[in-house]
Amino acid sequence: MKRVWFLRWVLIVAILGGVGVCVEGLGVNWGTMATHELPPEVVVQMLQDNGINKVKLFDADQTTLNALAGTNIEVMVAIPNDLLVAMNKYDRAKEWVRRNVTRYNFNGGVNIKYVAVGNEPFLTSYNGSFLNATLPALQNIQNALNEAGVGDTIKATVPLNADVYNSPESTPVPSAGRFRSDISGLMTEIVQFLNKNNAPFTVNIYPFLSLYGNDDFPLDYAFFDGVSAPIDDNGISYTNVFDANFDTLVSA
Ligand SMILES: *[C@@H]1O[C@H](CO)[C@@H](O)[C@H](O)[C@H]1NC(C)=O
Ligand SMILES: *[C@@H]1O[C@H](CO)[C@@H](O)[C@H](O)[C@H]1NC(C)=O
Ligand SMILES: *[C@@H]1O[C@H](CO)[C@@H](O)[C@H](O)[C@H]1NC(C)=O
Repeated sequence: MKRVWFLRWVLIVAILGGVGVCVEGLGVNWGTMATHELPPEVVVQMLQDNGINKVKLFDADQTTLNALAGTNIEVMVAIPNDLLVAMNKYDRAKEWVRRNVTRYNFNGGVNIKYVAVGNEPFLTSYNGSFLNATLPALQNIQNALNEAGVGDTIKATVPLNADVYNSPESTPVPSAGRFRSDISGLMTEIVQFLNKNNAPFTVNIYPFLSLYGNDDFPLDYAFFDGVSAPIDDNGISYTNVFDANFDTLVSA
């Protein structure tokens, strides 16, 4: 997905824990490619007025972060894909963390909880451009956070598109979910690294894209009331593509 061009209401962080799956809260993506960009203070006020306490950014813009200072809103700052190669140098990663994370770590500062390393870097449409750079960047950023003494509370993660996993066409059910074959080794290493650091796995699931991509896709299944034609998976009945997609990830 490209960056959002307006505030889009989404569930942002689904945490896969050892004891099961839980949704930690409701947040929004805050993109800045807008025809009518709002001043950051206005956006922050809107978040607060609507009880939104988590926000995911697509960079670490200083004006945006200044507006979030003192609010206690949980923030995910981000490293764009075009900086991933640079982050393969540990000194550069340390500098990024110093300039864009730890400088906001003071009383009345910004409640940064996550660093997004890249944005859906393994999208098939990128033709593998970021396959080599992502894991080293992730490792360097988490290690730099650890070295700066904030690694217990600030975690590096890679927001991935749901196209990193799928079910085989022969068995198109969630329980048959696997990571995409061309990146399964890499995904395994990433999951192991996240697990070792108690960092969350981050995925963007966009049910409505199934609709855009296929005229025959059942409308009710794209939303949350797909009772007309549920999909049966070994006795479990899926009535919407979000649940089915999410469980495909759990299986993978
Ligand atoms: C900090 O983040 C900003 C905005 O995303 C970026 O332009 C800048 O290069 C980053 N600073 C460092 C030292 O990497
Ligand atoms: C990926 O490859 C396709 C087909 O060769 C090309 O049209 C497209 O521009 C490439 N995209 C990127 C991001 O390199
Ligand atoms: C990634 O690394 C492999 C093995 O070293 C190499 O063959 C490939 O060209 C690299 N890909 C990119 C996009 O840099």
